[in-house]
Amino acid sequence: NDKYITLNDGRKIPQLALGTWNNVDSENTVNSVYEAIKIGYRHIDTAAIYKNEEEVGRGIKKAIDEGIVKREDLFVTTKLWGTQQRMSQQAIKQSLARLGLDYVDLYLIHWPVALKSRTIDPSDPKNYLTIPMKPDEPDVRDIDINWTFVDTYLTLQHLQREGLTKSIGVSNFSINNLKNLFKHPLFKVKPAVNQVEVHPLFPQDELIEFCKSEGIVIEAYSPLGASDSPILKNETLIEIAKKLNIDVAQVCISWALQRGYVVLPKSSKVDRIRRNFENLVELSDEDFKVVSDLKEKYGEKRFVEPDFTPFKVFE
Ligand code: A2P
Repeated sequence: NDKYITLNDGRKIPQLALGTWNNVDSENTVNSVYEAIKIGYRHIDTAAIYKNEEEVGRGIKKAIDEGIVKREDLFVTTKLWGTQQRMSQQAIKQSLARLGLDYVDLYLIHWPVALKSRTIDPSDPKNYLTIPMKPDEPDVRDIDINWTFVDTYLTLQHLQREGLTKSIGVSNFSINNLKNLFKHPLFKVKPAVNQVEVHPLFPQDELIEFCKSEGIVIEAYSPLGASDSPILKNETLIEIAKKLNIDVAQVCISWALQRGYVVLPKSSKVDRIRRNFENLVELSDEDFKVVSDLKEKYGEKRFVEPDFTPFKVFE
């Protein structure tokens, strides 16, 4: 799949990307990224908190060194973690050093909440970030209430002007978060994208409609419903996949591409990385509708930290 979408800043973004969240095995990450580029992926999505920027960078370097691709033909995204919202310039420079790049194509505020960096884990060999809490132990005391995502966004506008990132955007922002951002007198550059969870059981129609009306491109993370996904076991999707002689994952990715946004499937297995990119189909109107209506039948289901209290605060 070699389709591109034009962002509101005029740059082009490859519609299908390799997601890298939870790719825990270092060498596997290097190889996944390298193989993905060989297969034809031109868009790689990572984040400081994934702790794999070095490996992602090594995979990219290997592909560039072998002449498979040029830097300017790749689209690389990384993200600012909450504990570094007060120091985005330092954070992006650290990310670039780990990635081995002089710029990223897209830099995102990972979540719309600044976090305090009070809990540092000294036993962590990769302690370049301070992780405030485990997702299952939310603690509102970790929120930095004297600093908002709006303050952070204003600093991202500078990072873009400095050329450290070509485009800027946000992630996990609600309609309210975006409206609050737009209200600030120093707000100038619309986010190019809003990266959020979207899949057939969490189609986010309202947010997608709002972002479209504002010229903000949606990027769908966990498009297969993340790990251990009930989506991949969903009987209705299996039926469609069988009929079309493709995987359920391919049904989900095709559906997302047809809805017109960027989609970021993640896999650490080369054959799946390949299948997620190749042989995607155009769903018939009927199949498209069945997938779009899946949540009516099975109920809406969100997979990524739906009750992560600190991140809900600014809602
Ligand atoms: P793995 O890395 O072992 O391939 P999401 O992109 O929604 O976050 O979900 C990705 C999850 O789905 C990962 O756990 C990934 O596991 C798995 N996955 C990715 N592609 C496929 C595929 N084509 N078929 C089955 N499972 C897949």
